[in-house]
Amino acid sequence: MSSLSITPGTNNVGAYINSIEIKELDQKQINKIKDTLSQFGVIFIKKQNLDPESYQNFAKSIGTPVVYPRLKGLDKKFPFINVIERKPDDKNLSFGSSWLHQDTSYLANDRPRYTMLMGIEIPNGQGNTIFSSGFNAYEKLPYEIKIKIENATGIFSSSGPIAITRLEREKEMGIKSSDSMEAEHPIVKIVNGKKTLYVSPGHLMKIKNVDEKDAVYLKQYLVEHVNKKEFIFSYEWSKGDICLWDNLSILHMASEIKNCRRVMHRITMK
Ligand SMILES: [Fe+2]
Repeated sequence: MSSLSITPGTNNVGAYINSIEIKELDQKQINKIKDTLSQFGVIFIKKQNLDPESYQNFAKSIGTPVVYPRLKGLDKKFPFINVIERKPDDKNLSFGSSWLHQDTSYLANDRPRYTMLMGIEIPNGQGNTIFSSGFNAYEKLPYEIKIKIENATGIFSSSGPIAITRLEREKEMGIKSSDSMEAEHPIVKIVNGKKTLYVSPGHLMKIKNVDEKDAVYLKQYLVEHVNKKEFIFSYEWSKGDICLWDNLSILHMASEIKNCRRVMHRITMK
């Protein structure tokens, strides 16, 4: 099998992994994929079109898949695959849209670290996924901000600004809305030996462990900072593509989709 190659994404956000067939990976290639994921935070693998079994097996080779009960499951045989479907007449916001975020930052323990999507049905010219690199955003912070947030923590809530997309989804599925969940985490993390920003604007309520007079300003500053164009890659999907990201180092959001169908298969992993 040919050896895989790596091409960085736009603005150095994430990396494409080229020349691989996920169905035929050997251990050396799996290790290379894990290394690339850890180094870049998000990887893009084009046009794999995996059947559910191969897709779930790939997830198991990268981490430990977790059941995500608040999204529709694919099938009893594939408990880890959730279906994210957008119908042409859906009028509400797309799940996870409008706010950059890091999945499940409102959980204190056992957060699923990785999220993976595969494009099953992709509309033309719509439905990009927007990624922002916490590595690049941290690196470009002014020195005085780095000092101010050195030991800062964030309070993250499932009732944060992004909650509306979850509530709409729960209503659609007839699930009783869960109680609000809240957790506190350091906002500067070290992944693969590099510092990265963990600020999940969709869930961030408050910055703590900073000078009290700076808390509001720093929250606003950091939210605006990770949204700057220079840290963003808007990924345009093709059918069968796989995006896999580390929620510690990469922020993401869905973009708006109107009057068309889009289906993704999603797996989260520890
Ligand atoms: Fe998300």
